[in-house]
Amino acid sequence: MSLSIDTKRLTDEIEYLAHISDTPYPSVTRVLFSSVDLRAREWLKLLYADAGLVVREDAVSNTFARWPGTDPAAAPVATGSHIDAIPNAGRFDGVVGVLGGLEAIRALPRAGRRPRRSIELVMFTAEEPTRFGLGCLGSRLMAGTLNRQKIASLRDPQGLSVDDVCAQAYMHGTLESTRLTPGCYDSFVELHIEQGPLLELKQMPIGVVTAIAAPAALRIDLSGPGGHAGTVLMPDRHDPSLAAAEIMQAVERAALATQSRDTVATCGLVQVLPGAVNSIPREVRLEIDVRDIDGARRDGVLVAIRAAAKASAERRGCGFKEQLINADPPATCAPHIVTAVEQASAAVGLPCQRMISRAYHDSLFMAQVCPTAMIFVPSKDGISHRPDEYTAPDEIAQGVRVLAGALDLLAG
Ligand code: GLV
Ligand code: MN
Ligand code: MN
Repeated sequence: MSLSIDTKRLTDEIEYLAHISDTPYPSVTRVLFSSVDLRAREWLKLLYADAGLVVREDAVSNTFARWPGTDPAAAPVATGSHIDAIPNAGRFDGVVGVLGGLEAIRALPRAGRRPRRSIELVMFTAEEPTRFGLGCLGSRLMAGTLNRQKIASLRDPQGLSVDDVCAQAYMHGTLESTRLTPGCYDSFVELHIEQGPLLELKQMPIGVVTAIAAPAALRIDLSGPGGHAGTVLMPDRHDPSLAAAEIMQAVERAALATQSRDTVATCGLVQVLPGAVNSIPREVRLEIDVRDIDGARRDGVLVAIRAAAKASAERRGCGFKEQLINADPPATCAPHIVTAVEQASAAVGLPCQRMISRAYHDSLFMAQVCPTAMIFVPSKDGISHRPDEYTAPDEIAQGVRVLAGALDLLAG
């Protein structure tokens, strides 16, 4: 099969989407159902229509664009990713899997292919945790991993629920209706930037993911009486920010204690209220991200952090509340899809490296729905979640070529 990727068109589309953002180019900020997110979604639907795809949306605006195969009864092969972006992110995270997936689907008929199985491009809602504090909202719902109570407990910074923001965005249907039925897809393969340095260091154009590390997030709320920064004497203070400082150190200690490079932990969110220089802090919120390729070891780190946090709060006479936001199992990718990606790479003369994904992706949850794997393309200097995130047009095109080849093999 001689497959030509329209690199210029794809690059233009990626650049165009980068400008639909709440922060100036090359920074991208596109939070779930913000006006820029809604505008980006409308623009994507125009591209899907232009490609002749059949589009459907579910109750949280997960969007499915199907290129029908010759056998409508056969379960489709799916690909896709997300277009939401954390504050001050780059323009490739997620986008490469959506627009690249679209270009792969456009390239196949240009090469005279018409697979047996339909190929469906999925754009997942809210892969990033920005609005509701929980990543992969759309794919978690599709996999049926969120119960009613958990969904109902989610609030955005304005106190709105998932139902509220869906209603505001004119979404219809129940959250339960987003769950995919078993067997609905034959397989799923996501194209994504690596977001780490390995492919570039090894000068490998393509990575194929064999497993995705297990992510967890823990929220800790600390409180104290606060008061005047000048008049309350030191022995009388119960300053929650000092408990927070101890907890942040405990997070690092707990991760290092496993003595494994695969354990990582970060306290990425620290909010101090009332946030005035002449006021003793009264409330502190910490959000802690812990990941490991070994789920049990990750859970051990969480236990150590929670114990240290509770002890710090008690010692300092501070109020303490904790909430485990998520603690997901790792995912193992499907060997036959890994092999299909390797074959597709070999067919176009590109070496391909097996690797683990330390970032999470919607594939973590799609792996609970159907056999799943991922294709990585290099990230310059391993940088991601920053405006200077970069993957060259030719590198993206190589990933799309391999994706198209893999979809073609899987779709038969
Ligand atoms: C995804 O954005 C992650 O934080 O791994
Ligand atoms: Mn991301
Ligand atoms: Mn991503």
